[in-house]
Amino acid sequence: MNAPDYNPREIDASRPSAARMYHYYLSGEAVFEVDKIFGEHLFQVFPYADVWAHHNRTFLRRAVKFMVAQGIRQFLDIGSGLPTVGNTHEVARAEAPESRVVYVDNDLEAVHRADELLRAQRAMDDTAVIEADLRHPDLILDHPDTRRLIDFDRPLGLLIISVWPFIPDADRPRELMARLRDRLPSGSYVAMSHASMSEVGDELKELATEISAMYAETSDPLTMRDRDDVAALFDGLRLVEPGLAYASDWRTDEPVDPDDQSRAGNLAAVGYKP
Ligand SMILES: C[S@@+](CC[C@H](N)C(=O)[O-])C[C@H]1O[C@@H](n2cnc3c(N)ncnc32)[C@H](O)[C@@H]1O
Repeated sequence: MNAPDYNPREIDASRPSAARMYHYYLSGEAVFEVDKIFGEHLFQVFPYADVWAHHNRTFLRRAVKFMVAQGIRQFLDIGSGLPTVGNTHEVARAEAPESRVVYVDNDLEAVHRADELLRAQRAMDDTAVIEADLRHPDLILDHPDTRRLIDFDRPLGLLIISVWPFIPDADRPRELMARLRDRLPSGSYVAMSHASMSEVGDELKELATEISAMYAETSDPLTMRDRDDVAALFDGLRLVEPGLAYASDWRTDEPVDPDDQSRAGNLAAVGYKP
C-alpha cells in the first residue's frame, strides 16, 4: 500500500492548508496572512464554519472519553491538526493518566506545534507526534514512535477525525481504511467524522460547491462525501450506538438545536473491530 515516493511537505506560506484553516475556525488565530484572507472569505460563504469546527472538536472529545470508558488506554490520532483546547492526550489522561497517544499529521506547522506542546508539558514519555501521511498507513503503523508507544497486542483507539475529506477518491480512501482496519487488534475502536453536504438544505448545498472550489486553491483540496460513502469507510467495523450521526449530536448530553445550520454538514461515528 505504501508508495515508495512519499515526500514530506514543506510549509507553504503562500497558500492556506487544511490544518491552519481549521485552527483559524476554532481559535480565530491565523498563522500566515493568507490564512486570514481565506478564513474571512470562507466565513462570508459559510458563516457557520466556527460552529461546525467546534462541533467536530467536541465529537473528538466525546469519542475519546467513550473509548477510555471502554478500557482503551492507547490512541493513534491521524490528522491531529494544530494543538487546541482539549487535545486527545489531555482528554484521555484526565480520565486515565496512563494513556498513551501518538499524533500524526502531514502538515509541518501542526507537527511542530504539537511537538512544542508535548515538550512543554514534559509528556514525551507517553506521547509522540510524527510527520506522516494517511495515504501511507504502513509507514504510520511501523513508525518507531508508534511501535514504542502502542502495543499491537492490545486494543487501541484510532481517530481519523475530519481527515478523509482531504484524501481524494483517486487515492482510494476505502482501501487505505481497510489496510488500517486489518492491522488493528480486535477490540479496537475507530472514531471518524467526515464533512458532508448531502443532507443540508438547498441553500447550504449550493455553498458546498463554493467551499470545495475555494479549497481547491489550498494545499489540501476538499472532497465532501454522502452518507453511503462515509458509512463505507466503517466497513468491517460494528458501529456503536447511535451509529452514523451528525457529529454535533453523537452521544451528546447537550440539547440539540434544530435550527443549527451547521449540524448536517458533518457525519460521525465510532466503530468497533470485533
Ligand atoms: C480539519 S483538520 C482536523 C484536525 C483534528 N483531527 C480534529 O478533528 O480536530 C484536518 C487535519 O488533517 C490533516 N491531514 C490532511 N491530509 C492528511 C494526510 N494525507 N495525512 C495526514 N494528515 C492529513 C491536516 O493537516 C489537518 O491537520
